[in-house]
Amino acid sequence: MAVTEHCVSEVIIRVMKENDVEEATRLLADAFTGREPLTVCLGIKAKDDLSYAQRICERAAQDGVSMVAQDTMRKKIVGVATTFAMRNQEDDDVIKPLRIFRPIHALLNRLVRCFTKHPDYANVPLSKIAQFIRLAVHPDYTGRGIATMLREANARLANSKGFRMAIATATAPATHKMYAKLGFVELHEIRYEDFEFEGRRPFEGVTECKSAKLFIKSL
Ligand SMILES: CC(C)(COP(=O)(O)OP(=O)(O)OC[C@H]1O[C@@H](n2cnc3c(N)ncnc32)[C@H](O)[C@@H]1OP(=O)(O)O)[C@@H](O)C(=O)NCCC(=O)NCCS
Repeated sequence: MAVTEHCVSEVIIRVMKENDVEEATRLLADAFTGREPLTVCLGIKAKDDLSYAQRICERAAQDGVSMVAQDTMRKKIVGVATTFAMRNQEDDDVIKPLRIFRPIHALLNRLVRCFTKHPDYANVPLSKIAQFIRLAVHPDYTGRGIATMLREANARLANSKGFRMAIATATAPATHKMYAKLGFVELHEIRYEDFEFEGRRPFEGVTECKSAKLFIKSL
């Protein structure tokens, strides 16, 4: 399949499979707890993220529209781009995170709810909307366009599987830039200093980025 064949030196981009789940889980948990602005701000540790990251990877492998970047020389996964067929957020028990993640979950759900007011939401069945979830690249491999290639391949794969739209939330400067470059339209933005959760502003301390953004794209 064409989307599995892109090469950057020794790194290939291919579809994520069930036997990638363990390695992909570790990569996501390390990347998010070490470098994703909101997870870092809440001080979440990798061991507390592992079960959530694992459930994400299991569903991602099951839905068949997620990608990994693999270093073929070192035989290791160096990038993960998880994607689900969209489901009703409130009814989705499988992916409910631990209590410590609730401010992040609340912010992302608030962003995604903006999409439910968009005309395309009523016109496209949920099962035809690809929801881009966690994205991570190993720190030794960042700055080489790997995240961009993963999401580009993701969009092509989703399109070839009959998805009609992609929706993505982005919490970091690199992904704001990347989705705009990939032709996504910015639908909404929540500034970290304004976001309130249970009477507090949990993300006031985030410095590397001002807001989380919601992007959509017709496939
Ligand atoms: C975010 C992440 C996936 C980016 O991976 P990557 O492979 O380095 O991304 P790319 O090389 O494709 O870069 C994408 C764009 O972002 C830019 N970029 C990278 N880091 C940046 C930063 N810190 N600030 C601003 N722009 C940045 C790149 O220059 C590139 O833009 P360009 O194509 O115009 O040059 C990676 O840093 C990561 O795993 N971070 C931790 C987890 C995380 O935050 N995930 C995203 C949550 S939304």
